[in-house]
Amino acid sequence: MKELHQYTQFLEGKVNTFSFPNEPKNLYDPLRYFMTIGGKRMRPILTLMSANLFDVSKEEAYSAAMSIELFHNFSLIHDDIMDMAPVRRGKETVHEKWNSTIAILSGDVLLVKAYEQLAYYSDERLSELFTLFNTTAKEVCEGQQLDMDFEQQHTVEISEYIEMIRLKTSVLLGCALEFGAILGRQDDSVKKALYNYGVELGIAFQIQDDLLDLYGNPETFGKQIGGDVLSHKKTLLWLEAEKLDSSVIEKVKSESDPQRKVELARELFTQCGAKAKTEEEITLHYTKAINSLNSLNLTSEKSTPLFQLASFLLNRAN
Ligand code: IPE
Ligand code: IPE
Ligand code: MG
Ligand code: MG
Ligand code: MG
Repeated sequence: MKELHQYTQFLEGKVNTFSFPNEPKNLYDPLRYFMTIGGKRMRPILTLMSANLFDVSKEEAYSAAMSIELFHNFSLIHDDIMDMAPVRRGKETVHEKWNSTIAILSGDVLLVKAYEQLAYYSDERLSELFTLFNTTAKEVCEGQQLDMDFEQQHTVEISEYIEMIRLKTSVLLGCALEFGAILGRQDDSVKKALYNYGVELGIAFQIQDDLLDLYGNPETFGKQIGGDVLSHKKTLLWLEAEKLDSSVIEKVKSESDPQRKVELARELFTQCGAKAKTEEEITLHYTKAINSLNSLNLTSEKSTPLFQLASFLLNRAN
């Protein structure tokens, strides 16, 4: 896919020129490390593609796109502390390679860097960008807290899970896309359709992430396989299994050997139909995303990259 490759190349070029001060090393080395160990850059690509729909150039949209990617990286560094994750993007997480206090503070700096990028816009679009960014950033934190709370909570409804992932993951994709429409000075209906496309795509994407966490290929996924099961995360797989056959969850919970626990979950979640149910739910939200994009009646020349990105994301290995 030509466009995707071009956008990725463009962003990588920019990220490589992104400079952090040398000192204090324990503040900035982790950021140099984390920003260059990979990542799909899908959120900033969404902003660039969305801006392109309204003839806003990559150069003009770049700062808004980068603010989203910086915020995302901040959230990942903190998320890895919260989830006690050892591996990210196929490499050691920041809190493992350094320590948690370093990971907290260097993550904080990325959040400030995100605001710095946004402040690049000096015209009337700035306040709209800021308002959406701030709402989104708070929602991501709300979703992250619900995710942690659910680990301890005995019962979680599927609707509560969907709302949690809408907050922790999807609104940022919605924001990335709406940024393109704000930069292109579009009206509210266009902004809303793009935002909804992002939200539905994000829900499908997070459910897919839950699936990959258990069923992904350890060679390509770039994260620890089975981490969600080990921390008894209320993923959709888990909740569907609980609904279909509560003895499955009891068996998984009572297995104490980590490797056997993950293998058992993989087997039982497939057997009881939770995996198939989860896959259905991905398709459902993916279809909603596509419908929202279709409602914009864009020319195929303009919209093809966004359709292709959606299908690329749902066929990903990492
Ligand atoms: C990881 O996002 C966090 C989730 C919302 C699942 P990505 O899978 O986009 O992470 P990178 O940036 O490509 O590493
Ligand atoms: C992450 O959800 C969402 C955010 C980072 C805000 P996960 O905890 O599932 O993401 P991964 O699997 O660690 O990438
Ligand atoms: Mg998490
Ligand atoms: Mg995590
Ligand atoms: Mg995950």
